[in-house]
Amino acid sequence: MSDLPASASSPYAQLDWDAQGQPRSQLFADVYFATDGGLAETRHVFLEQNELARRFAELPAGGQLVIGETGFGTGLNFLCAWQLFEQSAPSDCRLHFVSVEKYPLTRSDLQRALALWPELADYSKQLLAQYLAVHPGFQRFTLSSGRVSLTLLIGDALEQLPELDAPIDAWFLDGFAPQRNPQMWCPELFAELARLSHPGTTLGTFCSAGDVRRALNAAGFKMKRVPGIGRKWEVLKGQFIGQTTPAVKPWFARPPFNPAVRHALVIGAGLAGCASAASLAARGWQVTLLERHGALAQEASGNPQGVLYLKLSAHGTALSRLIVSGFGYTRRLLEQLHSNDWAACGVLQLALNEKELARQTQLAAAFPADLLQPLSQTQAGSRAGIALPAGGLFYPEGGWVHPPALCQLLAKHPQIRLLTHSDVLELTPHPDGWQATSQGQLLASAPVVVLAGAADIRHFAQAAELPLKRIRGQITRLPQTAASSELRTVVCAEGYVAPARNGEHCLGASFDFTSTDLTINNAEHASNLQLLEEISSDLAARLHSAELDPATLQGRAAFRCTSPDYLPIVGPLADASAFLRQYAKLGKNANWRTELPCPWLDGLYVNSGHGSRGLISAPLSGELLAAWLNNEPLPVPRMVAEACHPNRFALRSLIRGQ
Ligand SMILES: Cc1cc2nc3c(=O)[nH]c(=O)nc-3n(C[C@H](O)[C@H](O)[C@H](O)COP(=O)(O)OP(=O)(O)OC[C@H]3O[C@@H](n4cnc5c(N)ncnc54)[C@H](O)[C@@H]3O)c2cc1C
Ligand SMILES: C[S@@+](CC[C@H](N)C(=O)[O-])C[C@H]1O[C@@H](n2cnc3c(N)ncnc32)[C@H](O)[C@@H]1O
Repeated sequence: MSDLPASASSPYAQLDWDAQGQPRSQLFADVYFATDGGLAETRHVFLEQNELARRFAELPAGGQLVIGETGFGTGLNFLCAWQLFEQSAPSDCRLHFVSVEKYPLTRSDLQRALALWPELADYSKQLLAQYLAVHPGFQRFTLSSGRVSLTLLIGDALEQLPELDAPIDAWFLDGFAPQRNPQMWCPELFAELARLSHPGTTLGTFCSAGDVRRALNAAGFKMKRVPGIGRKWEVLKGQFIGQTTPAVKPWFARPPFNPAVRHALVIGAGLAGCASAASLAARGWQVTLLERHGALAQEASGNPQGVLYLKLSAHGTALSRLIVSGFGYTRRLLEQLHSNDWAACGVLQLALNEKELARQTQLAAAFPADLLQPLSQTQAGSRAGIALPAGGLFYPEGGWVHPPALCQLLAKHPQIRLLTHSDVLELTPHPDGWQATSQGQLLASAPVVVLAGAADIRHFAQAAELPLKRIRGQITRLPQTAASSELRTVVCAEGYVAPARNGEHCLGASFDFTSTDLTINNAEHASNLQLLEEISSDLAARLHSAELDPATLQGRAAFRCTSPDYLPIVGPLADASAFLRQYAKLGKNANWRTELPCPWLDGLYVNSGHGSRGLISAPLSGELLAAWLNNEPLPVPRMVAEACHPNRFALRSLIRGQ
């Protein structure tokens, strides 16, 4: 988002800057913060009225506080809250900040606005370093070495907040003035704040208007006028005293299980396992990462290059929304990788037929131009540096990644212990949690276990019902030539080819739905070369592909692991047969409402089914898993979390059986 100027059709805020260099919204004709003493006002209105200094200091060991905000704007409130948190909270506590924003600032505007506050420079620098790939929907940021999570909901507050599942402890209400921005102060929005609140949730706002105060009172907040600051004579502070609404779907509810010891076993050290371990370790968990091979990333996550490719839908499906959120999260993570292990070179998806062209036209209308842009054949060719048979859709922030390096980065944490050569064959319940054993030999035990062994998680009786499939894929490694080094972006059609890493291009990949054999075979090298020809006969010639003998080519084969709906499987596991018994009535009436608790397998979780896009879905799934386990804000919309939930299959089979 940094490169594009805000324009009339852009989703970004259009700003004017006053003589003091302070931003002002063109659309709302209003200021983002008090022009005299913005910092003091933020601290008085939001931090003090929510009593955050005391509440941060009183957090219990390993505790967390969740702040919700309407209107992220320049992030000033967030940075002030973060600074106070660092100054006041015990070192093992965490801060979650969730904020909704319809018109995010471009990165350059954000930089300019935050330069006004030199005393917040330590914090604004970290935010700016991560402020990229901020696209519509939920965008999760991990800051302060994992101590602080920021979730931005990019979109209209009335569309985004109903999607949020988060136990909010303190609210900052910071829309523009109500007469200019009534959408941010309406009863429907206040009802959402109430839904996300619990007894003890507090609220602070600069706005003291009588109708706002009365509407908040009506929503369940006990509001009080208190002295203001600067030009604000009075401001409002409040406490939630209303009714909390019970969850209606117990099979998607948060499991009540709360282990006394925060120790987890993660079984499988590919992208899903390493990401799960990273998200838990960042939250203070001890993690034992068990891997049957001698090192991590030896199976699907072991390819030399994988593509950060977004297969989107223009119809806002759960998968498409997961992809936009996951892409943002992975993309921000990659900033920490060594430059030899990834490249933000962009990804070009060619439109080789009318159907693909129509799909791309729809996507171009549905998504912002800094996420994807249609290119003509000539434009595409000059982007890619080679001759191409067609134009296509260009994803400027996409690129390629060396997945093992991403796994290493995720698993590198003092609280993660990697146990290699540890093939977990059985998982048995034990008074202290779960025991992982191999032929009767105890490997490790802990109250929480995350199954991250791709399709092999079905070998555990507890996960045997999950409908996971393996799809064999083979990539071909092609030696770079002087002429092929002109390739400047990843180019995809049915297959993909990336600019070279360490003198080799990665060309992929075959799909075999039946084979269980991972021996490299010549037929699939030949079919990969065919995919290359389809992408660009120019590039094929530059790589001398016609002269290459498949029998002499190097490659690598592994299994992808997919679910029937192509969404990953992420979340807590229930006892399969007890589930069918407990909710059997759904077979007769799909609309049956019940509060019967789900028969969870306490402490057992899954992160699997990442198909052909683990680079995009697995890291964010680590965050989703950690959110389920720690009663945190979910990093994705509720409907996406439910669409990824392990219980969805048992639920569907019950309902289909009616
Ligand atoms: C040919 C090919 C090309 C691909 N290209 C792309 C791409 O361009 N972009 C993209 O985003 N994705 C791509 N993918 C998909 C991506 O690689 C996967 O989605 C991702 O690697 C899945 O990670 P995972 O951790 O779930 O599985 P894996 O990486 O397979 O990891 C599972 C791990 O669990 C271990 N394990 C299993 N059972 C046990 C046990 N009982 N005890 C101990 N350890 C166990 C395994 O040894 C393994 O290390 C590709 C996949 C393939 C095969
Ligand atoms: C006063 S500013 C917020 C200032 C901000 N908290 C800060 O620290 O800089 C109000 C913000 O609300 C956003 N906003 C206005 N209407 C909105 C809507 N309907 N949904 C979501 N955000 C909205 C504006 O774009 C603006 O960034």
